[in-house]
Amino acid sequence: MISSNNGYERQIGKILFNENSIDTHVTRLADEISSDYIEINDLILICVLKGAAIFLADILRKLKIPVTIDYMAISSYEATKSTGIVRLIKDLDVDIKDKHVLIIEDIVDTGLTLNYLIKNLKTREPKTVEVCTLLDRPRRRIADINIKYVGFEIPDMFVIGYGLDYNGYYRQLPYIAELNAT
Ligand code: IMP
Ligand code: MG
Repeated sequence: MISSNNGYERQIGKILFNENSIDTHVTRLADEISSDYIEINDLILICVLKGAAIFLADILRKLKIPVTIDYMAISSYEATKSTGIVRLIKDLDVDIKDKHVLIIEDIVDTGLTLNYLIKNLKTREPKTVEVCTLLDRPRRRIADINIKYVGFEIPDMFVIGYGLDYNGYYRQLPYIAELNAT
């Protein structure tokens, strides 16, 4: 248990998905990906930092096919969020031309970040680009995105834990909880 300075504990609301439930769904996704990509030997997982880092680490260890990984970091400013203009903070190290790419995301909300990312990646001429997200909140979707793998669909609430943050905190929680902002 972490000390409850500054109301840290108080902001952790109702637990939506506990460790067991997350593990079950991450295993399911890993099994689906392993069978869908069984013929492919050049799959690259692209983890969108920072939120998807924990999800990547878990799903990676459950995949039964050879994969490589790389990381990207993007920032979406509030002011530009509605236009979907986001800034690339860290680009890939590897060339994805003629490769199969699977983007690993923590949550798809408006879809604007992912929309930008997919367009950006497609200019590099990969063979395929698909998306695997742990959480999907379709209620607030603006950009029409084709998401191939979804862990959980969630209602319109802000969530924290298992990599997802509120002002940079709570990523370390092993479960996913509602943010208690009041
Ligand atoms: P989008 O461009 O609106 O789809 O924004 C998606 C990004 O916003 C995600 O990759 C997260 O980093 C962040 N985000 C959206 N909703 C939440 C949430 O409920 N908790 C924590 N981060 C979130
Ligand atoms: Mg993210």
